[in-house]
Amino acid sequence: MQTLNHYLNTQILPRGRDGNHRRRRGGSMPQIFGAATLQPPRASLETKRKTYSMPPEKVEVFNSLESWVSQRVLPLLKPVEHCWQPQKLLPDPSLPWDEFSEQVKELRDRTAELPDEYLVVLVGDMITEDALPTYQSQLNSWDGVRDVTGSSHNPWAVWIRSWTAEENRHGDLLKTYLYLSGRVDMLMIEKTIQYLIGAGMDIQNENNPYLGFVYTSFQERAAFVSHGNTARLAKESGDPVLARICGTIAADEKRHENAYIRIIEKLLEVDPSETMLAIADVMHKKITMPAHLMYDGRDPMLFTHFSMVASKLGVYTANDYSDILEFLVGRWRLEKLEGLKGEGKRAQDFVCGLAPRIRKLQERADERARKMKKQSHGAKFSWIFNKEVAL
Ligand SMILES: [Fe+2]
Ligand SMILES: [Fe+2]
Repeated sequence: MQTLNHYLNTQILPRGRDGNHRRRRGGSMPQIFGAATLQPPRASLETKRKTYSMPPEKVEVFNSLESWVSQRVLPLLKPVEHCWQPQKLLPDPSLPWDEFSEQVKELRDRTAELPDEYLVVLVGDMITEDALPTYQSQLNSWDGVRDVTGSSHNPWAVWIRSWTAEENRHGDLLKTYLYLSGRVDMLMIEKTIQYLIGAGMDIQNENNPYLGFVYTSFQERAAFVSHGNTARLAKESGDPVLARICGTIAADEKRHENAYIRIIEKLLEVDPSETMLAIADVMHKKITMPAHLMYDGRDPMLFTHFSMVASKLGVYTANDYSDILEFLVGRWRLEKLEGLKGEGKRAQDFVCGLAPRIRKLQERADERARKMKKQSHGAKFSWIFNKEVAL
């Protein structure tokens, strides 16, 4: 992936408004796999991040879509009374002690054989979910859709709060399940969550909802893929309840993915050029994972190591990245989008040609990795009491 990042930064640059290849806006992008450092990871300070990049008059586009959001997006939320809650999938503490402790014992028996590397990925996914305050803040930073009062009736704001409320169950459920398993070091996990929420995220959405909704479309699908794979692996490892938990979360992610994809679809209809440029911009910057500033107070490469284990287990890989991109290109029918001119057309060509180019590069990187297999090593994870996991 280092090579992939390097290649994307140096080779596959779309042309800017002047027709020349865009130069990167200084400094290094947050890397999926960054360089070693003795400091906890931080957002780039090398250049001032671009902010408020949406032209002010475009706010009207989002105002004009309010009733459409009510009719076509809000119905993708589930009423609270129809939603699952974590308690439905966890031992019931309201039962008499012996029955409750029997349920906990069964949970511990099921999780006893889960491989360490699987636990690392599940913990990393749970920590990512638990940094939800960061994601709600991110959505509320976007012009034209933010929740201006904290309890606004504007349909965009209703979506942001209700989406957050649905997401909030994901971290709660996974964290309680892992806590009861006794297999993980909760203290180190809790520290990591506190560090991560304190660090935030650096995804360069520029307070711009065009960029933001492209990012969330990609990210929700990535979450769906990732939870779907942890469900499959839980089943293979003999824990059908955990499989159901991960599958239930994946189904939520799928609904959220549909909502964000639908928003971009609508924006492509009402403002194709700006939306196409936004898709190209986000893909040019690359999708940085939401928990990329993860730190546990010990391992400055924690996110890199977690990502490597997730990739090794097949929970989220470079191939998934290309698959998601290809899926979105198809779902938004970007190849068939007509009437784009100049930089809009160049953005379209860039995005539609990107997935095959990334795949080709990945094949070469995989080949090199196979040859260097002898040098592969492991990493110790504080989340599982400093046990080492192969990378
Ligand atoms: Fe989630
Ligand atoms: Fe999600």
